Amino acid sequence: MWTKPWLIVITLAICLPSFAQHKNFIPLPVARFITGDQPAWSSMSFDDQSWKEIRTGKVWQEQGYDSYHGYAWYRIHIKIPSALRNKGFWKDSLRIFLAHVNDVDATYLNGVKIGQTGNFPDDKEGYVSKWPAVREYHVAVNSPAIHWDEENVIAIRDYDGGGSGGIFMGEPYIDMLEKTDGLTISMPADEIKYLSNGKATQPLMVSNGFNTSITGTLAYTVTDNHNDLIHRKIELQLAPYGRQSFILDLPNREGITCKYSFTEKSSGLQLQQQQTFPYILTPRVSDHPRINTAKVYGVKPGSPFLFKIAATGIKPLKYKIDQLPEGLLLDEQTGIITGQLNKKGNYATVIHVSNAIGTATQTFTIKVGDTLAFTPTMGWNSWNCWGINVSAAKVQSSAKAMLEKGLADHGWNYINVDDGWEAPARAADSSILTNSKFPDMQGLGNWLHLHGLKFGIYSSPGPLTCGGFLGSYQAEEKDARTYAGWGVDYLKYDWCSYESIVGKDTSLNAYIEPFRIMQHALRAQQRDIIYSICQYGLKDVWKWGGEVGGQSWRTTEDIEDTWESLEHIGFSQDKLQQYVSPGHWNDPDMMIVGKVGWGENLHPTRLTPDEQYTHVSLWCLLAAPLLIGCDLDKLDDFTLSLLTNDEVLAIDQDELGKQAKRISANVWVKELADGSRAVGIFNMDTTYRNITVNWKELGLNNYRQMRDVWRQQNIGPLQSSFTKQIAPHGVMLIKLIP
Ligand code: GAL
Repeated sequence: MWTKPWLIVITLAICLPSFAQHKNFIPLPVARFITGDQPAWSSMSFDDQSWKEIRTGKVWQEQGYDSYHGYAWYRIHIKIPSALRNKGFWKDSLRIFLAHVNDVDATYLNGVKIGQTGNFPDDKEGYVSKWPAVREYHVAVNSPAIHWDEENVIAIRDYDGGGSGGIFMGEPYIDMLEKTDGLTISMPADEIKYLSNGKATQPLMVSNGFNTSITGTLAYTVTDNHNDLIHRKIELQLAPYGRQSFILDLPNREGITCKYSFTEKSSGLQLQQQQTFPYILTPRVSDHPRINTAKVYGVKPGSPFLFKIAATGIKPLKYKIDQLPEGLLLDEQTGIITGQLNKKGNYATVIHVSNAIGTATQTFTIKVGDTLAFTPTMGWNSWNCWGINVSAAKVQSSAKAMLEKGLADHGWNYINVDDGWEAPARAADSSILTNSKFPDMQGLGNWLHLHGLKFGIYSSPGPLTCGGFLGSYQAEEKDARTYAGWGVDYLKYDWCSYESIVGKDTSLNAYIEPFRIMQHALRAQQRDIIYSICQYGLKDVWKWGGEVGGQSWRTTEDIEDTWESLEHIGFSQDKLQQYVSPGHWNDPDMMIVGKVGWGENLHPTRLTPDEQYTHVSLWCLLAAPLLIGCDLDKLDDFTLSLLTNDEVLAIDQDELGKQAKRISANVWVKELADGSRAVGIFNMDTTYRNITVNWKELGLNNYRQMRDVWRQQNIGPLQSSFTKQIAPHGVMLIKLIP
């Protein structure tokens, strides 16, 4: 990468909370584009007139290259005026910002390589996808690579290993690097202390990432819906790589916003941000026993039975079941049921969970037959945090956290390993092998089962997975047998390189076929393996996913931790309700709460707290599989509260198995088994809004009582209409009780 001594190139593979360019930035919205790969395309003098024009901030699949994966080049022509340099304060480095690139890039300025992120398949280290990394390359102003006041060519060699391709999640630009670019101001959610008096302490941290000191003024204002609660100005001097932190005392309630700025003394440059305080709505878990397990559970005849009853309350808890069918055994201390049932049928049981202060009781029907996942899967998946850097140790640490932080007591039970576990070559007998990060897959499965958790794995019907690992193409039966041997309970089966197999055959059958093959392979195993189809909604998968044995199917491309992505994916699920029923679920992708990062520098989700309430509420209304995508070991109290609200989760796990319908611009309604309705009232705006719901107009006036589901409190009897001020991108989740 360091091709010439005079060229300063720094690769910043960091995920920034926002991509802040300076006032004098020059946007790079378009490029010339071609698929394929030739070294000459990096050169300044290459004639690219015949190449097509493409937008830079959007994947190429959305711009006429639908099913293309592999190498492609962008060439951006840009005049770089010396005025840009002169306006900078430091005047020493030009920044070339490229946002994210699917999946690997090497970037050249006038033929000089200025950076690379990830490894190309032909690099000697082998293919490494780095799409989550932000590309920011810096070039010294005196580098001859920059042609000041003349035309320059930024050439980007790009390799897409599957999924989406190209520059995305932000628009590229160039500007001058400034002193404040090394500064970060943050209010880390995992350092908040929620106190029992309705208050919280939150550190505000300022840190300098550059090797030079920085002086200026830090100002922060805390407001409670427009009224200032705290206002402070502090003169600061931060040492090279130094940091300082200030503790704020805040009320733990909705609408608290902290605005902060740092003004650098010599340049006057200012960094400004604002953050909403992550207020907790979920009430504290009661000491009294409460059963949080879904009311129905499906198993196939003859399959090993493993089920852990989810219950909260002061420990120790004692579990009992009435009418437990013969063949099953309950561990009264752990609530884990094991055994085997051979005869089809419905077995109605009653669960009792007791502790020193009381007993909770709930009906629980075990349905032995062909249907699995009577309620959507609840668990954890490694992808959104670890990407292909997943390892057995990381999986086990999240599994431990699922148990120790009490998530399992609220119904979370699947631990799913996504892409990145596979060895580069199969065994001599063509069995799939694990790589060195997973030394003992069967041991991992046993460990999970011992603790009542389930074990999920990932593969592709193609020769390679999206991460470039071995897929199951032409080894489906062998792989299904291997998974069963390891004790796998869940398979995510991801289209990826099957694109190359299907080729030009666009028939429906060609798209269904690979999933049918794995369906048969799974069915041949004496084990219940949930089949999670992942092909981003191709050929209306919701219409046939159930027929090929799928318990769920992804309906869209991959989710990211931004409001745009959440809004686009979550609110586009309308019209798909009819394809949902117990055992058959639309999957709008994994959750983006907590610390995520797809394997690189985990960062707190970029969703605001209100957007996160919207996310969890919407996924539950949609009866979506709930797969947590963050590092559970680093779970903060706010995220934990989002994931452990039993009344909210019960909406997702409702045994009627309906998906919510959008009945007006802001309102989604889900029918529940007990005759009540869950209603999500969403504010899609960026400011607070009073939203009025007229129950009669919506045909919902026959209910008696309204309950605030997040706060777990009755609001009062149903009136003809209901008005509520809702936070920007926020939600009010209500239950209408008959
Ligand atoms: C994508 C999929 C992601 C993740 C990834 C693994 O296609 O949508 O959820 O599984 O592949 O490489």
